[in-house]
Amino acid sequence: MTETLQSGGRRRLRRGVFAIMTGGALLAACQAQPSVFNPAGPASRQISNLGWTMVILGSVIFVVVMAYLLYALFRRREGSAAISGMRVVVWGGIVVPLAILTGLFVYNVNVLGAVNPNRIETDFTVEVIGHQWWWEVRYPDHDFVTANEIRVPTGRPVRLEVVAADVIHSFWVPELHGKIDLIPASPNAFWIQADRDGEYFGQCAEYCGTQHAKMRFRVVAQPAAEFEAWLEQQQQPAAEPADGDPAEGMLIFLSANCVQCHTVRGTAAEGDVGPDLTHLASRRTIGAGLLPNTRENLLGWVANPHTVKPGVFMPASDLSAEELNDLVAYLMTLE
Ligand code: CUA
Repeated sequence: MTETLQSGGRRRLRRGVFAIMTGGALLAACQAQPSVFNPAGPASRQISNLGWTMVILGSVIFVVVMAYLLYALFRRREGSAAISGMRVVVWGGIVVPLAILTGLFVYNVNVLGAVNPNRIETDFTVEVIGHQWWWEVRYPDHDFVTANEIRVPTGRPVRLEVVAADVIHSFWVPELHGKIDLIPASPNAFWIQADRDGEYFGQCAEYCGTQHAKMRFRVVAQPAAEFEAWLEQQQQPAAEPADGDPAEGMLIFLSANCVQCHTVRGTAAEGDVGPDLTHLASRRTIGAGLLPNTRENLLGWVANPHTVKPGVFMPASDLSAEELNDLVAYLMTLE
C-alpha cells in the first residue's frame, strides 16, 4: 500500500518535472537568440503575428473538435439528439471552415503584400551574393564590397537584392524576415528593417554543401550617424603600413597565393574568388560569421582554415610561423 502510494507520488513528481522541463524548453526556445519569436522589424513582426494567429486559431479549433468528439463518444444514446446531424455538417463542415479559411487567406495575402519589396519606399539597396560558404555584400551606390556582415541604418528599410554564385543558398535572419532563396542567375529581392540598434544573427537556410551550417553572417543595425561614418570608411582604399611587421606582412601577402582569390583595394591584390579583405579588421567575425575576429583566430584561420571549417575552398598556408605572424599583423591593420 505504502509502496503504491510512493510510486504514485513519484509518478506525479516525474510528470511535474517533465511538464516544467518541456515548458522551460519552450520558453528557452522563445528567448534564445536568434528567435523567430523575437521580431525586430516590421516584416518579421507581420510574419510572427500571422504565425501566432494560426497557432492560436488552430488550437481553439482542435479543442472544439475534441470536445465534440468526446461529447459524441459519451453522450447517452437514448433521448433526442441535442444537435441534428444535418446542421452539424452544414455549419461545422462547410460554413465555419469556409469562413475561417477565407479570413486566413485574406490575412495571408495582406501579409504577403506588406512584405513585398516592390511596395516599400527606399533608396537604399544592398546586394548579397551567396558563395560556398560565405556571403559577398555589395553596396552599389557607394562602390565597395565587403563580406559576411551587412550594416544597415536602424529604422530605415533596406532593399536586398540576392543571387547565388554557385548553388542555391537561402538568406535567413530570423529576427528581421523570413527566408529568401539565392538562386544562380535569377536574382530575388526583398527588404529588411531593424527597429533597434544591434547585431542580428543570420544563417544560410538551404543545404549548399559540406559547410552549409557554417555559412553564417550578421546584420548590424547602427544609428544613422554611425552608419554614415562606416560607409565613409569602407569606401576608402586600404591604408598602407609604413614599417615593421605589418609592412613585411603586406609584402608576404602580395607575393603569396592570397592575391589569387582576395582583393585589398589600393594594392595589386584583385582576386574575386574569396571575400574582399580591404577592411577585414573592421569586421566582427571571420570564416563567414564563424569566429570572433581576433588575432589568435585569424592566425589559426590563415594557417589552416580546415581545422575549423573542413572542406572550405581556402587552402592551408605553407608560410613559416614568422611569415604568418607578419601576414596577420598586416591583416589586422586593414581597418
Ligand atoms: Cu549556403 Cu547553405
